[in-house]
Amino acid sequence: MSDAPRRFGVLGTGHWAATCHGAALAAHPDVELVGFAGRDPARAAEVAARVGGRAFASPDELIDAVDAVTLALPPHVQAPLAARAARAGRHVLLEKPLALDLAAADDVVAAVREGAVAAVVHTTYLFHPEVTGWLEHLGALAAEHGPWEGALARWAGTIDAPGNPYGASAWRRESGGLWDTGPHALSVLGALLPPVERVSAGRGVRDAVNVALEHAGGAGSALSLTLTAPAGAGGSFATVWGPGGRHDLPRFHGTVQEGFRRAVDRLRTSAATGEPDPAGAAAGREAVAVLAAVEAHLARPPAERTTAVARR
Ligand SMILES: NC(=O)c1ccc[n+]([C@@H]2O[C@H](COP(=O)([O-])OP(=O)(O)OC[C@H]3O[C@@H](n4cnc5c(N)ncnc54)[C@H](OP(=O)(O)O)[C@@H]3O)[C@@H](O)[C@H]2O)c1
Repeated sequence: MSDAPRRFGVLGTGHWAATCHGAALAAHPDVELVGFAGRDPARAAEVAARVGGRAFASPDELIDAVDAVTLALPPHVQAPLAARAARAGRHVLLEKPLALDLAAADDVVAAVREGAVAAVVHTTYLFHPEVTGWLEHLGALAAEHGPWEGALARWAGTIDAPGNPYGASAWRRESGGLWDTGPHALSVLGALLPPVERVSAGRGVRDAVNVALEHAGGAGSALSLTLTAPAGAGGSFATVWGPGGRHDLPRFHGTVQEGFRRAVDRLRTSAATGEPDPAGAAAGREAVAVLAAVEAHLARPPAERTTAVARR
């Protein structure tokens, strides 16, 4: 792949930037980990010394030095930096969610188009063969028996568990499971059901949100999302049903670094062929649109978004 990007830099200096993006790039035989940049050059130097490459004084200095950037930053920091990198002609490997508001997501989509670059959003589940094989199988079943009619998904993180690396993540505390785990659930359902047209939602304890989704053509699905599940109550599952039966999302067994390496390969293929990746900026924008609609629904006064149950 002569036109595939080879020199990669990581924007971000936190846990995920070092242990997933950096580690996967350092181990990839076909790319070079050029280095890291964040808001603090000393942190970039510390991570580069530990993982590989060199430290850059600023994100712009790193963008200048590479063919592609991967971003492991809070989503509201990621979106404008990704747009800048794309407009500078750098391919972008993004994290979920693409952004925390639709205007920022739209700008990334526009920047990717204007910069004529490749983009992939690392929605973890879509980069593991157990899951992609299952989705292909379900696609074949739907083609044979008819479209899926509904799905139920729970995605629950446990960031309050001792030692969890995301306990101090400010954007997670502020935006909750809706924005952190919601993109994972939507990435799986998005591969099985038509686009979401309407949403409604209710709240649970802490950050828990329960969402009802109405899809084009009539299918309906439900999500239960949190990132503060009690110890022993975390974990994820998804079930889909229709004329082809009822099916559970399988677990994947590979490491996150193996999945991220596949995302790197998909970005390189998209850059070399000019074919947009199905997990590209448009798919990331679609998830943001759904999550923003849920947030807008939840912002309504309870009396306007719910119907009280009559009691004697
Ligand atoms: N695909 C997956 O399964 C998966 C898993 C984990 C994370 N992620 C994604 O990776 C991204 C980063 O996640 P994370 O958990 O590492 O997030 P985080 O802990 O909240 O933040 C990551 C780093 O960004 C820097 N940072 C924080 N606030 C900043 C700000 N206002 N301006 C500039 N830099 C700032 C901090 O690094 P310094 O303190 O060193 O500056 C921080 O360590 C998120 O989009 C998340 O969803 C994805």
